[in-house]
Amino acid sequence: MQYGYFDDAHKEYVITTPRTPYPWINYLGSQEFFALISNTAGGYAFYKDALLRRLTRYRYNNVPLDNGGRYFYIKDGETLWAPGWKPVKTELDRYECRHGMGYTRIQGEKQGVAADLLCFVPLDYTGEVQKLSLKNTSAETKTLHIFSLLEFCLWNALDDMTNFQRNFNTGEIEIEGSVIYHTTEYRERRNHYAFYAVNAEISGFDTDRECFLGLYNGFDLPDVVKSGQSGNSVADGWSPIASHHLKLSLQPGEEHSYVFILGYAENAPDQKWEVPGVINKRKAHTMIAQFDTEQKVGQAFLKLKDSWDRLLNRFSVQSCDENVNRMVNIWNQYQCMMTFNMARSASYFESGIGRGIGFRDTNQDMLGCMHQIPERARQRILDVAATQFEDGSAYHQYQPLTKRGNDAVGSHFNDDPLWLILAVSAYLKETGDWSILDESVPFDNDERKAASLFEHLKRSFAHVVNHRGQHNLPLIGRADWNDCLNLNCFSTNPDESFQTTTNKQGKTAESVLIAGMFVFIGKEYAAICDHLGKAAEADAVRKQIRDMEQAVIKAGWDGAWFLRAYDNAGQKIGSQECPEGKIFIESQGFCSMAQIGQARNLPQIALDSVKTHLDTPYGIVLLNPAYSRYYLNLGEVSTYPPGYKENAGIFCHNNPWIMIAEAILGRGDLAFEYYQKICPSYLEEISDLHRTEPYVYSQMIAGKDAKRHGEAKNSWLTGTAAWNFVAISQWILGIQPDYAGLRIDPCIPAAWEQFTVRRVFRGSTYTIKVNNPEHVCKGINSFSVDGKSLPGNLAPVFDDDQEHVVEVTLGA
Ligand code: BGC
Ligand code: NOJ
Repeated sequence: MQYGYFDDAHKEYVITTPRTPYPWINYLGSQEFFALISNTAGGYAFYKDALLRRLTRYRYNNVPLDNGGRYFYIKDGETLWAPGWKPVKTELDRYECRHGMGYTRIQGEKQGVAADLLCFVPLDYTGEVQKLSLKNTSAETKTLHIFSLLEFCLWNALDDMTNFQRNFNTGEIEIEGSVIYHTTEYRERRNHYAFYAVNAEISGFDTDRECFLGLYNGFDLPDVVKSGQSGNSVADGWSPIASHHLKLSLQPGEEHSYVFILGYAENAPDQKWEVPGVINKRKAHTMIAQFDTEQKVGQAFLKLKDSWDRLLNRFSVQSCDENVNRMVNIWNQYQCMMTFNMARSASYFESGIGRGIGFRDTNQDMLGCMHQIPERARQRILDVAATQFEDGSAYHQYQPLTKRGNDAVGSHFNDDPLWLILAVSAYLKETGDWSILDESVPFDNDERKAASLFEHLKRSFAHVVNHRGQHNLPLIGRADWNDCLNLNCFSTNPDESFQTTTNKQGKTAESVLIAGMFVFIGKEYAAICDHLGKAAEADAVRKQIRDMEQAVIKAGWDGAWFLRAYDNAGQKIGSQECPEGKIFIESQGFCSMAQIGQARNLPQIALDSVKTHLDTPYGIVLLNPAYSRYYLNLGEVSTYPPGYKENAGIFCHNNPWIMIAEAILGRGDLAFEYYQKICPSYLEEISDLHRTEPYVYSQMIAGKDAKRHGEAKNSWLTGTAAWNFVAISQWILGIQPDYAGLRIDPCIPAAWEQFTVRRVFRGSTYTIKVNNPEHVCKGINSFSVDGKSLPGNLAPVFDDDQEHVVEVTLGA
């Protein structure tokens, strides 16, 4: 069953009922100010950091689901309704929600009044603009009462949810005309305030939640709205809110629009006050003036759309498959930008208080948007590298506001250092900007300990070399990519987190995944050394890589697939010998991508085993058979019921590793079959089973051992976005940025006749036409650039602002 449809021409997903199987959300903002918005106008806003600068309150884990947002109540005689259905839930005569690129438009109609709510964060603006238009579609005059509502969060979102003995006393508000200022804690150490404005004279306001709602009411039927009269309440502690009361009379056919602004402003410490006790509102006044008319909003909206068009146009494909086109050209690229912006902080599955920007996560996220925002990726690389320790290991996350590393979600995950090399190599391939390697970057956020970025890469590589176990394989540390394979955490205490609890000695458990990563990513490090003329280092690196390959072939191969690990007792994990968890996806993916044991055909044998043991109709499960009970020596992986999350869920993040490995092998039909299985737009028709948004990837789909096989969770913020974009764009369509040019090496379904990609690369635009007359999956018969036939498959760098045509004919 579907709950909407794709409108590709407008780059929108159109939701046609408010009763989606779960809130289907979108993100507003892409620089400093962000907001989440669901299809019923739920969600919240924050400045830079969802933990430390939360503007509006949101209650996760609440009933009913998705309560709280930017709400507009419309009272038309005795009828009370809201354009997005919630929170009032009056049946609407018409409803539609369009999630687009950085904006959401919700339309509702009731008894001859049509409402149109457009929400977006303009470029270079620290606020959310909400344009509410109301039209009288009836034959009579309408007299309406409109009440806006949002609830402020007292800035620190965790404290706001926990520290009531203090917080019920601190709330403060100032009101000036139609603008409500949230000033809690401004009297002391905060130099920032929020405001909620409307560009019209108001008939009243409320800022005290209890007065607006009534102590025992929910958002659905506030006392003030019911009575049709604001209380003009001024919050004094408790819970500050902002509500405007507007009265509107509309003749038949008449339309009127209001512009609401939820804004954030900061003042220098010596400019905080106008007079003692009155905050300096100059910045708010300027921000409000920027969008005080419909025309100004319209212009900003066009600019926003234009900027997204330009971002997305840097890569576009025309193929015979409309789902490939819409995912590659629109939604997958869009999601990649959101994962870059949000990391794993704020979604409807991530609370915004748990996680900042993860070291491993952001390095992978950048792989998906390097072509869109190389300058921002450059800064991100420098920021994340600054949280590395001198021995090459790293804090596992940092807060975006402070850019300081912390170990709130653990540290010493021994895969972390390698991801930095991968992100940097992707940056170099995209931009050719080798100067980044000379940038001076602190260790442990300490300027006194700074070295070149190249030195950081060197220590990343060395960290693996220096931490190996008895089979010469990499020690796993707290965990590797699989946060839940906790081979050094023997936990019998339900009150401790697997992510932070103390390691065992950590001298025995080894990871075959890290070995595969080391070989795959190490080759990039060697290429970087080559380019820099560091021949001795490059030779040493290649020798280490050969040694690692040998170690894997000797101790990491289980007969028909790659082992996953050795545990703290030196026992095999992911082996025929194991009663459960005999085969894992991660090591098959990375060791095959790295071509380990290619001479003996090990990648193909491993990938065949994936097909036999891990594949399902809804994607590839992480391991098989699922763990049926808790294993002390394995940790969190075995805490999940069979089929969920890391315990044999379909982890959409590493399915593309298998797609890539299949593409390297040349099996384009299989690579594409795996691509289709988890790609959300193909799943639109089973939305009632899948449940999360059909326009974005989710982290996990329940595996075959789960009761809810096929049901997805944790949409939006997942490395799945980046890796699937890498798989489809670089390995299936085969457009690979490389150090010296753009390499073209498609591996497609044999049935495909042709496709065309337009790709901006290093200052030129390449139109790449791929023909497949012999219906092969892979292999190039002829290759030409601007009509000139070339050997190989590398299109040169032109950097000339011009268009270039690359023609490729596939063949045996
Ligand atoms: C989840 C992992 C996640 C980790 C992050 C675990 O509970 O299963 O997917 O990476 O938490 O801290
Ligand atoms: C989600 C985490 O964000 C990511 O870092 C990790 O690799 C996967 N879960 C797998 O555990």
